[in-house]
Amino acid sequence: MTDHYLGFGLGLRTPHFQDVLNTQPDVDWFEIISENFMVAGGKPKYYLHAIRERYPMVMHGVSMSIGSTDPLDKDYLQRLKKLANEVQPEWISDHLCWTGLDGINSHDLLPMPYTEEAINHIVARIKQVQDTLGRPLLLENVSSYISYTDSAMSEWAFYNEIVERADCLMLLDINNIYVSSRNHHFDAQDYLNSVNPARVRQFHLAGHSDYGTHVIDTHDHDVCDPVWQLYRQAVKRFGPISTMIERDDNIPPLNQLIDELTIARHIAAEVEAGEPLIREASRP
Ligand SMILES: [Fe+2]
Repeated sequence: MTDHYLGFGLGLRTPHFQDVLNTQPDVDWFEIISENFMVAGGKPKYYLHAIRERYPMVMHGVSMSIGSTDPLDKDYLQRLKKLANEVQPEWISDHLCWTGLDGINSHDLLPMPYTEEAINHIVARIKQVQDTLGRPLLLENVSSYISYTDSAMSEWAFYNEIVERADCLMLLDINNIYVSSRNHHFDAQDYLNSVNPARVRQFHLAGHSDYGTHVIDTHDHDVCDPVWQLYRQAVKRFGPISTMIERDDNIPPLNQLIDELTIARHIAAEVEAGEPLIREASRP
């Protein structure tokens, strides 16, 4: 168990605000979408503060666009820092992706070409972000449906190299690994095996839409069996890592998500009680 282990959490979503306050459910922590709370006041802020008083929280952003060739948005980073001062999150994360170009936001988390040039570019930008925020950043692997002919390495080699060189941390999205493994025909276990356990701070679990020939990361379904199986493998490899379920669409009642979280708790407990963990590297 690491100093940073929070247990089992949920993404905090608007339809559940009042329920969380009323019932104070057995959830160890919540993850907020940072951009939803970059506002001066109002109801979201009221709930944010009330829930933060009762639960540990982490901040998860969707618009840093760390991979874009546009300059980093300094105003955005300052607003993110201001929110972090208010929330005092355990950590802050965003995605290893780009979201737009020439000031146009695609509102998509677009994958990077896996090249040395992109690594150099992103490492320099992560350092800038970490200097501004005064803390390490967690970067999440995105799911992808396209690849670039320019790519010179695997996604996991690219991800590992960036995280090592920038001295940042990983938010491993288990569903995204599964989705990309289906779309790009790689073995998801190879991905897990190549990641340095010392860098992994958080897991995401989510549902997706399976169209047979391709899979889309829609966050509108329950976590499916193959993703639970991959989660089991991830816990075997990385040990107890703070785990949460993301649900962004077709949002069920809070109790249903808490039941789903119980499955994660059971899998982690089974792994802990059973096979020895495969840990190789020490934590940074
Ligand atoms: Fe995710």
